[in-house]
Amino acid sequence: MIGRLNHVAIAVPDLAAASKTYRETLGAKVSAPVDMPAHGVTTVFVELPNTKIELLHPLGAASPVAKFLADHPSGGMHHVCFEVDDILAARDRLTAEGARVLGDGQPRIGAHDKPVLFLHPKDFCGTLVEIEQA
Ligand code: CO
Repeated sequence: MIGRLNHVAIAVPDLAAASKTYRETLGAKVSAPVDMPAHGVTTVFVELPNTKIELLHPLGAASPVAKFLADHPSGGMHHVCFEVDDILAARDRLTAEGARVLGDGQPRIGAHDKPVLFLHPKDFCGTLVEIEQA
């Protein structure tokens, strides 16, 4: 059911420093930061030939990334995002298989203006999984 790896997201305590690391040390193409108030994050995308890295920094007091950074002060891998053809069909299949969808189960518009859902890490080997309708 899942398709391509759309991105790997890494929570970072310093977005400018992380952008510099990817741009200068690793020599990657790095976007400008984009605030996403609905998701409580500021994101930077690193474009790689076969996928993307999403650098995440908390935005606002209720950011879901703030607690993650409190537990991982140097930053760390936050989630992986897989593409699906039909997000509602994917959600229904996943819930029928016993997986838990976070939130109210309704897709939200994610960082690429496409519908996304997040799946409970305990159901996926301890990893937060995002699915995005490609
Ligand atoms: Co993501």
